[in-house]
Amino acid sequence: MTHDDDRGPAPMPSGRPSSGAIVPEGMQRSAAFAPINIALSKYWGKRDHERNLPLAPSVSVCIAELGTLTIVAPNQDLDGNVMLINDKPADQKALVRVGRVMRAVRALAGTEVRAGVRAVNTVPTAQGLASSASAFAALARAATAAYGVDLDDSELSGLARLGSGSACRSIHGGFVLWQRGELDDGSDSIAEQIATAEDWPLRAVIVHIGEGPKKTPSGEGMRLSAATSPFFSAFIDTCFRDVSECLGAIAGRDFERLGVVAEANCLAMHATMLATRPGLLYWQAATVEVMHTVRRLRAAGVGAFFTIDAGPSVVVICEPGAVDAVSTAVGGIPGVVKLTRTRVGGGAHLVPNG
Ligand code: DP6
Repeated sequence: MTHDDDRGPAPMPSGRPSSGAIVPEGMQRSAAFAPINIALSKYWGKRDHERNLPLAPSVSVCIAELGTLTIVAPNQDLDGNVMLINDKPADQKALVRVGRVMRAVRALAGTEVRAGVRAVNTVPTAQGLASSASAFAALARAATAAYGVDLDDSELSGLARLGSGSACRSIHGGFVLWQRGELDDGSDSIAEQIATAEDWPLRAVIVHIGEGPKKTPSGEGMRLSAATSPFFSAFIDTCFRDVSECLGAIAGRDFERLGVVAEANCLAMHATMLATRPGLLYWQAATVEVMHTVRRLRAAGVGAFFTIDAGPSVVVICEPGAVDAVSTAVGGIPGVVKLTRTRVGGGAHLVPNG
C-alpha cells in the first residue's frame, strides 16, 4: 500500500469504513462529486509550481455528468493517508499532490489524524479530459466536510488548487473565472462563478479519442513551454485579452463571440505547445478531423465550437439545437472511440451516503 508519508501499511476504506475503523470525534466519513471543467481561455504557465499559481487568469465551463466521486474517511488508526484511484493504489506523484491538500485540511482542523481516500473517475484518465481537476475539487469538498472544516466556495477553490491548478474551477458550477492573483501566498488566486448553467444552458459533446504514445503531464509540459517555446510569453499576453473577451461574450450570451475567442485561444495554446522543444503534440489524426468537421458544420449554420486540453479528445460546445448534427457528423470519424452528449452543469457537491 502506498502512503503520503511512508509510515508502513494501513487498512483502506472500501466504500464504507471497515469494521473497527475509528472515526474521531467531530469528524465523519464524507463523499463528494465534482465535475470536469474545460477552459475556454486556457491555463498553460505557472508563476509558482508548488502552489499552482498561474501566470494568467483563465475561464472555464463545468461539464455535467463526467467527473470524480471521492470518499474521505478520517481514521485515527492510520499512520499516513492511504488512497485508491479507480480501485488501484495511487502512485507517488498523486500522493504528493493529495498530501498537499490533506496537510492543509489537517492544519485548518488542528489535527494530525490521517484518512483513507477513495476516488472513482467517471471520466477516462489521461485523455486530456481534466480528470485531475474533478479529482482535486472532489477531494477538497469531501475532506473539509470529513474534518469538520467550514470554508466558503472561494476558499475551497484555493484548497483544490493546491492539488491541481485547474481543480479550483470545478468547485463552482457553470461558467467560472480563475483569477491570476498577485500575492505570493496565492490567497487571491481563487475561482469565482460568473454565470450559472441555468443562466446559459449550453450543451456539450465530448468526443473521446484514444491516447497515443504516453503524453507529457500538464505541469511538466508547462515548465518545458515556459523554458523553450518562442511563443510562450505571447500566449500569456493573449490570455489576458482572451479572458476579457470571454467574460464579455458570456455576459452578453453571445455564442458566436465566445466560439471565436475559445477556438483561437485553444489553438494559440497548442501552437505554444507545438513550438516547445521537444514539441508537445497532443493531437491524434482524429483530433484534427473533428476540428475540420466542427468548422464545416459552423459554416453551414450549426452553433458549435471546439476546444482541446492536453490530450487528443475534443470538447464541442453546442447551442441546444446543434447536438444531433454534431454527434452525427463526428461519431463516424475513425479514431473516435466514444461520444458523451452532455451539458454545462453544476459544481462540486457533497453526496449523502455516497
Ligand atoms: C491544458 O490543472 O492539469 O487543461 O496545475 O499542474 O495540475 P496542474 O495542471 P492542470 O493543467 C490544465 C491544463 C489545461 C488547460 C486548462 O485546463 O486551463
